[in-house]
Amino acid sequence: MTIDRAEMLRILEQAMAPVEREFTDLDLRVKGSIPPDLNGLLYRNGPGRFERGGIPYGHAFDGDGHLCRFDFAAGRVGYSNRFVRTRAYCAEDAAGRMLWRGFGTQKPGGLLTNGLRLRFKNAANTHVIWHAQRLLALWEGGPPHRLDPLTLACQGEEDFAGQLRNRFDPLSRWTAPLLPFSAHPKIDAETGELINFGLVLGHPSRLLLYRIDAQGRMAPPEVHQLDRFSFVHDIAVTRRWICVLLPYADFDIPRALLGLKSPAASLKLETDRPMQALLIPRAGGPTRLIEAMPGFVFHIATAHDREDGGLQLQVIRFPNFPGLGDVEGYFREVEQSNGLPRLERLEIDPDARRCSLSPCNEEVSFELPTSNPGRLGAERPQIYGIGTPAGRRLPFFSAIQRIDTQTNELIQRDLGADLPGEPIPTSTRPDQEDWLLSLVYRAAERRSDLLVLRATDLAIQATIELPHAIPPGFHGCWVPANPGEAMR
Ligand SMILES: [Fe+2]
Repeated sequence: MTIDRAEMLRILEQAMAPVEREFTDLDLRVKGSIPPDLNGLLYRNGPGRFERGGIPYGHAFDGDGHLCRFDFAAGRVGYSNRFVRTRAYCAEDAAGRMLWRGFGTQKPGGLLTNGLRLRFKNAANTHVIWHAQRLLALWEGGPPHRLDPLTLACQGEEDFAGQLRNRFDPLSRWTAPLLPFSAHPKIDAETGELINFGLVLGHPSRLLLYRIDAQGRMAPPEVHQLDRFSFVHDIAVTRRWICVLLPYADFDIPRALLGLKSPAASLKLETDRPMQALLIPRAGGPTRLIEAMPGFVFHIATAHDREDGGLQLQVIRFPNFPGLGDVEGYFREVEQSNGLPRLERLEIDPDARRCSLSPCNEEVSFELPTSNPGRLGAERPQIYGIGTPAGRRLPFFSAIQRIDTQTNELIQRDLGADLPGEPIPTSTRPDQEDWLLSLVYRAAERRSDLLVLRATDLAIQATIELPHAIPPGFHGCWVPANPGEAMR
């Protein structure tokens, strides 16, 4: 199916319409049948509005966080949705205008309103996780927001009993009283331990590592000084290593501070220079810094330790850093540079300090990768994600994909002009494939459906109809019924 560029642009722009209504435990209509073993809760986060007071935000990452909650119980699906009512969201809602700068958004009023305004709005829009009886909405530039798992009411910032309090220099404390907690924590399904990071840019820049036990207690953050600026969205964690891929970045701090540019416009990633792989031993000891490949990686699909002592990562690598500020510009950028994000295998030899990169599949683009939960570092042969089928162009992700990395077999469920979100696995074991849940934007109807797909072949088992449209979003989590019982 071929869709011309103007039509793809129209659909993408139409899909960014704001969410107008909030529902509470609405009984959704189901076509097909919900698998009898599918009981639990799906939470999904993503931007739900892209303007304030008639002024559009300058970047897709700045949209206000909006959560969907689907309650699967004995074949019925109940639906609730809420904006994440952070302090900033409520203040802007009351004022009816933009009060904060964002990652890629300047406040109206130029230098006068942006100069020395060093606190940026925490959009709380990137991920939602369930850990140690806490439901947390995540955004990588700031602390998590804690939510009521039943009503989705925002209960404020989570500082983990003070461990996220910023204890660095006065300027750093003034701009960010709480440290950033990134949007891609890794949870060990066997031990319940959570590992995450935060990046604080400055002189020097610092990478903070957080470890939270199964009871929700955070240890004091571990501080790693970096010798250059960087920009990191995701990390890899195995039994032996924490691996951080550091692209070479330049950040125009004076202009960002003076309010002349947004942080996104002040950030320049030199993707023709090789990234560095920073290896931090989980058991302690000296870190290793190894030259890797050029490009940029948002997401690391899987990571495991090899028996020969090596570390293997499957990453989604962009040849260039995607602008993402305006869709038309991004289409142009991809056409000029063949900038498809592709799934690639990165082998790291920590002792020889060498990296090698090989393609997993050169034919298709891949993004929003997921895999089954399990022990950190367990091998996961199947990777799910979204991609762009033939006849359409990036960033028009209109297929759900599954790749078996051992056989390289690719299965693609082409959704035509519709836009699927991250396929979230419902299995609780790394070696067992059950179901995938993906929220899909229906272009013709301007509405969304939640699809239940069989993970092994992406056959559609059930279509769950929403009464309204949800813009394409980022990440979510599945909470199986047993731990979920306490929430109902
Ligand atoms: Fe992400």
